[in-house]
Amino acid sequence: MSIEAEHIHMERVYVWEVPVRLSHWLIVVSLLVLSVTGLYIGNPFIPVSGEATQHFVMGTMKSIHFVAAMVFTLSVLWRIVWMFVGNPYARWNEFLPVSKRRLVGIWNTIAFYTFLHRDSPAFVGHNPLAGVVYTVVFGLFAVMIATGFALSAANAHMNAMLSGFQFLIPLCGGLQMARFIHHVGMWLLLGFAAHHFWSAFLVGTVERSSLLDSIFSGYKVLTPDVARRARKHIEED
Ligand code: HEM
Repeated sequence: MSIEAEHIHMERVYVWEVPVRLSHWLIVVSLLVLSVTGLYIGNPFIPVSGEATQHFVMGTMKSIHFVAAMVFTLSVLWRIVWMFVGNPYARWNEFLPVSKRRLVGIWNTIAFYTFLHRDSPAFVGHNPLAGVVYTVVFGLFAVMIATGFALSAANAHMNAMLSGFQFLIPLCGGLQMARFIHHVGMWLLLGFAAHHFWSAFLVGTVERSSLLDSIFSGYKVLTPDVARRARKHIEED
């Protein structure tokens, strides 16, 4: 079928619901704010003259970091809840490959990315390889939240609620280790974010599926071929 003919038959499918898109963008924005303020906390690069109390740059950075950390933590928790109540494309089994089709789909996706297969595997939501990668990313989110709360607990007043997280400090291997893991985790997440953007751009262009637009609008536009192959298996995904 020619490209023009395919466009006439394109199918619009509502994939990403409002809570999925909202948590996605809240995570993106809070991650950026956390990275900028975190880099400053680790390496205070703005010099100030005179008494530190007259400027409060570090205090401001730490306060912004803390507010963004709460937005980040709640967005991640909200997205995990939505894995159990959302539409089929938002569910936990889009992340963990428990069906045979998704397990095989991991290899088919790798084969497509490495030019061994001509056609992209027909999955409407996350492809199975992306799903597994996002599981690792959510694991990394959990590590950032645990080490972050361990660091907060160390600074918290003994009557403050945050001091209740002190039990995390030995679990992280002590405060220095918590700080180190927290710092390395940031670079891993920033590396993922760069790769995520470019691969979404690339796959969206190759599949002509409006992949990038879909995280704004919620809709994916499928070619007749992908729609037909996906519909055949949608119950198994
Ligand atoms: C993925 C999100 C996050 C990123 C990218 C991030 C990044 C960073 C970085 C780079 C540092 C400086 C570490 C160093 O080199 O010393 C830092 C410090 C800190 N982070 Fe995060 N962070 C994140 C999430 C959180 C969360 C969820 C909390 C929970 C409250 C948190 C609490 C803290 C605290 C309290 C410090 C200060 C440690 C100190 O006073 O020295 N962070 N963060």
